[in-house]
Amino acid sequence: MKQWNIAVIPGDGIGKEVVPEALRVLDTAASIQGNVTFNYTEFPWGSDYYVEHGMMMPEDGMDQLKQFDAIFLGAVGDPNLVPDHISLWGLLLKIRRDFQQSINIRPAKYFEGLKTPLADPNNFDLIVVRENSEGEYSEVGGRIHKGEDQIAIQNAIFTRKGTENVMRYAFELSKTRTGHLTSATKSNGIFHTMPFWDEVFSDIKQEYGTVETKKWHIDALAALLVTRPSDFDVIVASNLFGDILTDIGGAIMGSIGIAPSANINVSGEFPSMFEPVHGSAPDIVGQNIANPVGQIWTAKLMLEHFGEIELGEQVLAAIEEATKNGYKTPDIGGAHSTTEVTDEICKQLVNQKQLNL
Ligand code: NAD
Ligand code: IPM
Ligand code: MN
Repeated sequence: MKQWNIAVIPGDGIGKEVVPEALRVLDTAASIQGNVTFNYTEFPWGSDYYVEHGMMMPEDGMDQLKQFDAIFLGAVGDPNLVPDHISLWGLLLKIRRDFQQSINIRPAKYFEGLKTPLADPNNFDLIVVRENSEGEYSEVGGRIHKGEDQIAIQNAIFTRKGTENVMRYAFELSKTRTGHLTSATKSNGIFHTMPFWDEVFSDIKQEYGTVETKKWHIDALAALLVTRPSDFDVIVASNLFGDILTDIGGAIMGSIGIAPSANINVSGEFPSMFEPVHGSAPDIVGQNIANPVGQIWTAKLMLEHFGEIELGEQVLAAIEEATKNGYKTPDIGGAHSTTEVTDEICKQLVNQKQLNL
């Protein structure tokens, strides 16, 4: 029996509602497979913890997390309790950085039976590979002067190593898919970092002769994702551009509540972290209407990371089947609760097992 030890951080808002549902699906998956167990250790870190302790996690929080095979996180942020820049830099961004989770994988694809805002979804199926530990997200900069003369400066930091790493990851991923890679740039308007980004992209391209590449400026790319998403397969993007593109990815699937994400520590020195693209959704908290699919699809990415590829595929198939059968939360036009959608996904998993016997 294989054992996977998972640190679970439900976090804030709907994170606390969708995480237990995804664990229910993982347990159902484990029971149908029969050869794997998931051990969960829950950490009650987040904005409530901050109110009580004055920090988002204990001093030795990172040490506690280090021993796990993966971190499964819901969402962080409760702006009514803690300013976002404090809560996020104290937990989510801290883990991404300190554990060198420099690659963020964010798939988006057309789901049968899901109404999308697109005129022609044309079965789109793409993955955004987002640089996850540097770029526009930096602590370098500051505020100077006061009053009318006040200035806020944010320095973006693009290292050669970090940029090469994310690009190599994207090229490798492209080789396993259709062999088309798009780079999100803005070298027409950003003076230093984006021309550098393009230069590194064309250098790394030399190592991957078989991959076809294209560059789009981020503004045009954002529009094309809405009008022609099926033109894209793998997209490599900087931290901020990737952040924005992947909310679009969620929206064109039908809801940001569906979109999954994996923060990968490539060297394996530290655990990787799995969390959906969406946030804590304070506007719908406590109503049992949050879409659990983003968190459950995220569990599928974690299964893949563990090498449980087939089990992961079964989870995704169960999500798709439940959607096709009309099990939908209100964000995608349904009237089912978080719990009912999860129940149906679990039921579909068990059905698949019975069909395969
Ligand atoms: P959000 O993703 O929480 O919500 C945006 C909109 O999408 C809201 O209308 C919300 O109801 C809806 N939505 C999100 N997830 C949903 C789901 N699963 N089912 C149904 N509807 C869903 O983004 P926001 O409002 O910008 O941020 C709220 C808080 O979450 C902030 O504190 C923000 O910093 C934080 N946040 C955290 C993460 C994270 O932890 N990874 C990601 C994004 C935002
Ligand atoms: C995400 C979120 C985070 C990000 C925020 C909450 C810091 O938007 O995971 O997409 O910008 O990376
Ligand atoms: Mn985001």
